[in-house]
Amino acid sequence: MSPQASSSMRSVGSPELTVRHCSHEFEAPSGGVFSARRRQPVLSDVSFTVPAGTLTALLGPSGCGKSTLLRALAGLLVPSRGEAQVADRELIGNPGGVAYHPQQDSLLPWLRVIDNAMLGAEVSSVRGTSSETKSAVRDRAMGLLDRFGLGGLHHAWPDELSGGMRQRVALLRTFLMPQPALALDEPFGALDAITRRKLQHWLLEIIANEQRPTLLVTHDIDEALLLADQILVFSGRPGSIIHVEDRPAAELRKLERVSGADRAASMRLLAALGVSH
Ligand SMILES: Nc1ncnc2c1ncn2[C@@H]1O[C@H](COP(=O)(O)OP(=O)(O)O)[C@@H](O)[C@H]1O
Ligand SMILES: [Mg+2]
Repeated sequence: MSPQASSSMRSVGSPELTVRHCSHEFEAPSGGVFSARRRQPVLSDVSFTVPAGTLTALLGPSGCGKSTLLRALAGLLVPSRGEAQVADRELIGNPGGVAYHPQQDSLLPWLRVIDNAMLGAEVSSVRGTSSETKSAVRDRAMGLLDRFGLGGLHHAWPDELSGGMRQRVALLRTFLMPQPALALDEPFGALDAITRRKLQHWLLEIIANEQRPTLLVTHDIDEALLLADQILVFSGRPGSIIHVEDRPAAELRKLERVSGADRAASMRLLAALGVSH
């Protein structure tokens, strides 16, 4: 099924994703029975907006709270402070508002590839957030297997797959979910360079067609330069936004990659990350 057709099944209405003054502290283990519990700040007053049909990339050192932020948006963790909304729905403490792709692939070993891929969309149907039937989800999943480099593998078990294949199944599962926004935590990390490039271009096309605001955590500056309309650079822990890089439209970004015209932006990002070049 084409991306246009799949988007027509959603009542998207061009939402935007907003995050306002989000901060979080984890309770660190105490040193002993009588010592007070310490609080470890991991996110500090993070605010931004992801307009419909655009992608915002989060870049920052390990441990600066990127995954914590995505887990908060997925409703899996309640941050100490802050709000987040998509399409008037409050996300904090309210699981199921975004299609969330966790950093680990988290496939269920007792389900075949096709059933793992359908899982997120099926859960949404059961929860009543989508009216798509199981057979319609299956049709969409089967139609996308080739595109994800999984052709002919619908009947395979997760144990029979390479790390890269498992990651693509997890990615397919995320894209089949009907939520009005996407939150992807390093989704291309374990992929070979060719598959990675193919899926990056496919992601650009999907975002343009579906209009879902998308948040992407990546360690790869070139990936952020190609995919993102906006790049947010985070400081070390506690993570706060220390640089915002606004990028041109997707078609121009593709040309810049070929011509090397994105070098100045790359230098600015490296400088913000404190990497000497
Ligand atoms: N459940 C948790 N309990 C306590 N500390 C945690 C928990 N999850 C993450 N952390 C800590 O919070 C910090 C930020 O983690 P994370 O959000 O995973 O960073 P990033 O994704 O940017 O690498 C790290 O120091 C990590 O050890
Ligand atoms: Mg992380």
